[in-house]
Amino acid sequence: MAQSKTPMLDDLEKGAWPSFITEMKKAAAKKANSQDLLDQLELSYKDKTGYWKHGGIVGVKGYGGGVIGRYSAKPEEFPNVKEFHTVRVNMVPGFFYTTKALRSLCETWDKFGSGLTNMHGSTGDIILLGTTTENLQPCFDELSEKGWDLGGSGGGLRTPSGCVGMARCEFACIDSMDFIQEVTRHFQNEIHRPAWPYKFKIKCSACANDCAAATARSDFAVIGTWRDSLKIDQDAVREYVKGGFDIQQLVVGKCPTKALEFDSAKQELKFDAENCVRCMNCIDMMPKAVKTGKDRGAAILIGGKAPVVKSAFIGWVLVPFMKVDAPYTEIFDLVSRITEYFDEHAKPRERIGELIYRIGMGNFLKGIGLTPQPQMVSAPRANPYIFWQEEEVVKHG
Ligand code: HEM
Ligand code: HEM
Ligand code: SF4
Ligand code: SF4
Repeated sequence: MAQSKTPMLDDLEKGAWPSFITEMKKAAAKKANSQDLLDQLELSYKDKTGYWKHGGIVGVKGYGGGVIGRYSAKPEEFPNVKEFHTVRVNMVPGFFYTTKALRSLCETWDKFGSGLTNMHGSTGDIILLGTTTENLQPCFDELSEKGWDLGGSGGGLRTPSGCVGMARCEFACIDSMDFIQEVTRHFQNEIHRPAWPYKFKIKCSACANDCAAATARSDFAVIGTWRDSLKIDQDAVREYVKGGFDIQQLVVGKCPTKALEFDSAKQELKFDAENCVRCMNCIDMMPKAVKTGKDRGAAILIGGKAPVVKSAFIGWVLVPFMKVDAPYTEIFDLVSRITEYFDEHAKPRERIGELIYRIGMGNFLKGIGLTPQPQMVSAPRANPYIFWQEEEVVKHG
């Protein structure tokens, strides 16, 4: 048997899990660029060096974003990946597609690109991996004709993304899919024509389980919650306990604020509404007995991001509760105020969380016109004070 040209990659096909190498080999059987992609990757592993470089700006007519230019650093050796640009296609909220729509998308991509896709990674987008500069416009035109649009890239609003919410999930406190659809429509210009110092991401999870990982992965996280108190059905509680469910260990003992107590004499789950921080654990553990409150909306968290300039940040509370119902006027207005402030004050490649660290939460709140509230403290024991501005202090005597 002939010696394999990619022994190091082949190693990644061993083991119990699906392998991206196997998929790339399937594409390589049809496309020369996928073959060069494999060979270049093998060389990268061997040399312990990446061989991709950024090039000039590439894109399609009328759009500043949505395409990420990629070029091989070894074009003589791997001519078929000399240009290997990524196309970001805006996904459907909740990631629901008909097989027909997916097939049609793939047909276009087989025609103009490598055939390789990466569905819904951290950005949420449908990522189409690898095409030439020449093929970008006709590829986009055909996708556009079929009803697809590009997502965000560069220093602008990135493709908003959210959890499946009400489409599948009884925990949903807001309609995350509708919100994502509408926020995407409303801020089209900010997505397609990036003009800010750096990226800005909006993600929405319809409850605090945060399946969209919005608190960790977005600058502006919309997390469904409720303002009244959660609802307990004591009969259903008794059913769980009767069935051998360890309510003490799994529910009472795990409540972060000790808001729950099980009265074994009365067989009742007692609840101190004042102390509940709406973490979702008791609801997740016994969904038939405990339900979210009825007065629903969302908490807005600001500043989440992965490393790069400073370390990774988890978003922290900016608005403890706001209603999130169509037509979303209040929340869109908040997004506009924040992104305008960001545009004006951030340094190049500085995320909003870093900007807030640099200038201070007090100044940021003043800049966007929000009144300070105790819930906005990011790490309560580390920095529990928001200072009054000199001109706001009323002097007596
Ligand atoms: C009944 C008596 C006391 C009560 C109710 C009390 C209450 C508190 C509370 C509520 C905090 C804030 C905790 C937090 O950050 O969440 C605190 C922190 C603190 N207390 Fe007390 N305290 C008492 C006695 C004392 C005494 C006797 C001292 C020193 C002689 C003291 C020194 C401190 C210090 C230094 C902190 C700051 C700790 C930190 O920020 O990590 N406390 N106290
Ligand atoms: C020069 C004198 C003092 C300095 C430099 C000082 C400094 C500090 C600092 C830096 C903090 C933490 C603030 C923060 O977390 O942002 C603190 C908290 C505290 N200090 Fe002092 N302190 C002084 C005197 C005192 C005295 C005389 C007392 C009480 C008799 C006191 C009681 C406390 C308490 C109870 C807290 C905790 C407040 C809380 O976390 O809720 N301090 N102090
Ligand atoms: S974040 Fe909450 S509402 Fe959304 S899918 Fe997850 S559990 Fe359901
Ligand atoms: S939602 Fe969380 S904080 Fe509230 S009672 Fe249940 S476990 Fe406790």
